[in-house]
Amino acid sequence: MSAPRIGFLLGSKSDLPQLERGRTLLAELDVPHEVRILSAHRTPSEVQTYCETARERGLEVLVGMAGMAAALPGAMAAHTDLPVLGIPAAGGSLFGVDALLSIVQMPPGVAVATFGIGKAGAMNAALFACQILGTSDQTVRTRIQDYRERMRQKVLGDDAHVQRETQQEDS
Ligand code: RP5
Repeated sequence: MSAPRIGFLLGSKSDLPQLERGRTLLAELDVPHEVRILSAHRTPSEVQTYCETARERGLEVLVGMAGMAAALPGAMAAHTDLPVLGIPAAGGSLFGVDALLSIVQMPPGVAVATFGIGKAGAMNAALFACQILGTSDQTVRTRIQDYRERMRQKVLGDDAHVQRETQQEDS
């Protein structure tokens, strides 16, 4: 098994299902990653140690996913100069809007790239992490281009199918 290049920290195991499509994409692009459950509020010193040692362990991009008062991606960025992507987890009384606002409103000088709430955000964060790797790794870049071409073909196939069906209905 190859060493992970992307490190995901999730604030709770309850967030894990929202990462599923993102992990499927990483498998499709064959980019090794790891997933840990560590919380900015519940396990702050473990978050710090993970982020401080991430680069020496070979990680190139970190991704934090958390819900509610989501401090995790910001706390991660405070302890590493690797790029940190933040995913607001859906859920709670405010359905993830609280997490979105927590993650996106970083103070100037500590950057977190914030994605959409929930599964779609997680998928795009995984993709974006690969695109960062792709800036210096032609193999990953080519796999992303192939993935986009498959996506294009799928939409065109759907379009042709729907056109045929709707034309039949009209005639
Ligand atoms: C956040 O609180 C977690 O990221 C999760 O989204 C939310 C609820 O956590 P659990 O109570 O389900 O562990 O820190």
